[in-house]
Amino acid sequence: MGDRQQPMRAIAADVMLAVENGQSLSQCLPPALNRLPPNERPELQALCYGTCRWFHRLDSELNGRLKKPLRKPDRIIHHLMLVALFQLRFSQQATYAVLNETVEACRALDKPHLTGLVNGVLRAAERGGAPESADDSARFSHPEWMLEKLRHNWPEDWQHILQANNAQAPMTLRVNARRFSRDEYLGLLADAGIEAAATRFAPYGIQLASPVPVDRLPWFADGAVSVQDEAAQLCTTMMDLAPGQRVLDACAAPGGKTCAILEACGELAEVVAIDESADRLPRVQENLDRLDLNATLKQADAAATDQWWDGQAFDRILLDVPCSASGVIRRHPDIKLLRRESDITPLAAIQLGLLDAMWAILKPGGRLVYATCSVFPQENHRIIQRFCKQQTDAILVEPEAQWGRNMGAGRQLLPDPDSHDGFFYAVLEKPEP
Ligand SMILES: C[S@@+](CC[C@H](N)C(=O)[O-])C[C@H]1O[C@@H](n2cnc3c(N)ncnc32)[C@H](O)[C@@H]1O
Repeated sequence: MGDRQQPMRAIAADVMLAVENGQSLSQCLPPALNRLPPNERPELQALCYGTCRWFHRLDSELNGRLKKPLRKPDRIIHHLMLVALFQLRFSQQATYAVLNETVEACRALDKPHLTGLVNGVLRAAERGGAPESADDSARFSHPEWMLEKLRHNWPEDWQHILQANNAQAPMTLRVNARRFSRDEYLGLLADAGIEAAATRFAPYGIQLASPVPVDRLPWFADGAVSVQDEAAQLCTTMMDLAPGQRVLDACAAPGGKTCAILEACGELAEVVAIDESADRLPRVQENLDRLDLNATLKQADAAATDQWWDGQAFDRILLDVPCSASGVIRRHPDIKLLRRESDITPLAAIQLGLLDAMWAILKPGGRLVYATCSVFPQENHRIIQRFCKQQTDAILVEPEAQWGRNMGAGRQLLPDPDSHDGFFYAVLEKPEP
């Protein structure tokens, strides 16, 4: 074996420092998890997710407790204290264990000169209890710019959105309609002792009462179900799929919606799945393989149609664009640290560019579904309004839906702490000549 294993809190502090430096949890957490034995990994994951989720509140408290910020080379100890504060405020861990193990982690990180500070700050935090939050950014634990944008965009709903973003997301499944009916699969889950209920809006969705490892799900490896949020599942209900159609999934990886499309309609002529990321595209193939489905995969910038398109127009296009992911913060709390306000305008330009390019390869009489997992109108109905101003022949179709709200140019779902993520969908049709 190599070096002695580092304490879990030291590894968590390392992960938090990497996130502060711009890496996503999905990039930096897997190698960190591999540094621990399997039985300790769930706890490390919970520490990192929880510290990101409550970062802005914990950071405000910690800054208030420090006489002056730590020097840059000691920044990791700031994160170590955030992890400990997360445990003091949000976990059942005994205080003495948090204190002792954090001091031990400080030593393991080769910062013995800071053990006194760490001990003093955490003891004061324990004695003083959680402070009254100084401002809304700390109270709701979101970056100031995001909070302001939500308050401005959703004057009635912003607090509800912030609270939903801080909740733990449920685990939701999509039953593979080719294998089982939803009721049949609910029966299999009950037999396996897994409590679950049908989703309200998505026809093949099942929400579990609490998350379980996928290998406990009956017939998972054989393609009976996939893990997919209810909001993401709704895309197939809007595509009006029918046998013989040629379908494009323009931003496909990791393939959740590609697979949902293929499951929803058995005799499509072809499904082409494109993604520009060479790292992410193989995930589409893995998902197709597990579900025993077929699609044509291409690694390309979907907007550069001259580089990949064979000249045959598509009957249906799903455009699930790259976006701020502000509707799925509860699943990816690192977004609070990673996303910048200045990201939104360039993203909107990419989204409109992709929409223009996809429109050109949609068949007359065809349908395009535009989707984001964002709650910012700038990426959602305003993109559709801008597009419809330019493309005056585009027909905006109002989907028949029991969910979300009609934004005049598409439908918005806000995240619901008890069920689906935040999502936006717009349906556009191209008239026959
Ligand atoms: C929201 S995710 C797609 C999620 C996917 N539809 C699913 O349901 O599993 C957006 C994807 O778009 C890809 N992407 C970003 N810009 C692209 C472009 N210009 N052309 C093709 N793919 C792009 C990203 O690599 C990312 O995988």
